[in-house]
Amino acid sequence: MIKSRLVVDRDFVISELDRRLFGTFVEHMGRCVYTGIYEPEHPLADENGFRQDVIDLTRELGATVVRYPGGNFMSGYNWEDGVGPRDKRPTRLDLAWYSTETNQFGTNEFMDWCRKVGIEPMYGVNLGTRGPDEARHFIEYCNHPGGTTLSDLRHSHGYEAPHDIKLWCLGNEMDGPWQICRKTADEYGRIALETAKLMRMVDPTIQLSACGSSFWDMPTFGAWEDKVLEHCFDEVDYLSLHSYFGNHHDSTEEYFGNIELTDRFIKQTVAVADAVAARKHSKRKIMLSFDEWNVWYKARSIEDLRKPGWPVAPRLIEEVYNHEDALVVGGALIVMMNNCDRVKVACLAQLVNVIGPIMTEPGGAAWRQTIFHPFAQAARFAHGRVLRPVIDSDSYEAKSCEEAISYLCAAVVDDEATGRTTIFALNRHLEEDMELRIELRGLGTDRRLETALELFHTNMKAVNTKDAPNTVVPRENKEVRFEGETLIAWLKPGSWNVLVSSAVAQ
Ligand code: AHR
Repeated sequence: MIKSRLVVDRDFVISELDRRLFGTFVEHMGRCVYTGIYEPEHPLADENGFRQDVIDLTRELGATVVRYPGGNFMSGYNWEDGVGPRDKRPTRLDLAWYSTETNQFGTNEFMDWCRKVGIEPMYGVNLGTRGPDEARHFIEYCNHPGGTTLSDLRHSHGYEAPHDIKLWCLGNEMDGPWQICRKTADEYGRIALETAKLMRMVDPTIQLSACGSSFWDMPTFGAWEDKVLEHCFDEVDYLSLHSYFGNHHDSTEEYFGNIELTDRFIKQTVAVADAVAARKHSKRKIMLSFDEWNVWYKARSIEDLRKPGWPVAPRLIEEVYNHEDALVVGGALIVMMNNCDRVKVACLAQLVNVIGPIMTEPGGAAWRQTIFHPFAQAARFAHGRVLRPVIDSDSYEAKSCEEAISYLCAAVVDDEATGRTTIFALNRHLEEDMELRIELRGLGTDRRLETALELFHTNMKAVNTKDAPNTVVPRENKEVRFEGETLIAWLKPGSWNVLVSSAVAQ
């Protein structure tokens, strides 16, 4: 048994948590759209062809935002191909994923799906093959009320009311050599600036995100952010981060290093954004949009990424997640919450089938992968202000992040409106239970435990499948109790935990 201590004080506030932190991502890639969210032939499809089982699971996942239509797909996409009568829509080669795009699902179907799920869209414009002109036309089609050719075109497609999309990405991973029409930082910074200006002229209420580096280990990380923001600093609200975690040492202890590295990645990106602010003598703070993140390392071969013959909706990067992946996803969520003063949007990539928390079979079942659970719990319970967790815990040395990793990893979210305080905690010790003593200061002496849940499995490689979908699922943790103002919990080795307590009404 190891012992850890967590001190929580109602006055140690990091920031109000933005609920957009629990976003997700739907790309026209593999089976995310076709046979993922959209499958008109499925027995559970609604009148729009949307799979009801996937809608139900997306609601249960609790995702608040959905980024669309890519990803790399975005950089070759013509929005005009995906609107209007379906039988007139062109079929095109998708050069991002070597697939055939039928365009049977496009902007209006996506907006219908968002409305039905109750999720906010985050739409990306193509700054690869296209640029400011198409972007201003597209936002006019989407957001302008009417009386112009493009807004009236939307009316003629059956959408009288503007879609009113607030959150926009200015392209995707524009520094990546794989990107369709990759750009230098100067080229992209200029185009992002000019596109942002035109889009804001059409709709001044929007918020815009510029592309940061594709990955932290891009050789130009830092320099790219600096140069891009040098150009478009005053016109954008967010800078994007993308990260896919790997288990390169095949050791769970080392794998947890991703959690610490994510924190470092965020802090370094903030430092660059703030350095640009300093140079410009600006008090403006650029916020971060961590709009692609997940575990992704098993399904990364060229065969996983590309199928021969330009197929429609091939099986691409259908990563199967295990218990340790769920722990890393939980740890990354903790890091996002603890950096919520600067990370205001985040999207788990992707939603269905393609490195997704939800899996489907065409014509068949849908089920929850292991990573579904920590995400759904964070989205469900994290409301309010994030409090700074003061942690006292033993640690171990890890090569993967070149620093000591504390066995306890935690975030605390306090909802003043309901009096509910939620602790998200990972026990990163793989053999020992952890006795965790949580001092809740200034949060009322008379508290009661509402919920204590754990995600635990003796086998780190355990997975959920179509035939065994409940192998790794959250269960109640009965080993939690209050001793005065101290909440004491016994956390199993290698477990993710959620502890919810509330003040007893006087
Ligand atoms: O999510 C899969 C791909 O990973 C996205 O299309 C791209 O943006 C990233 O490189």
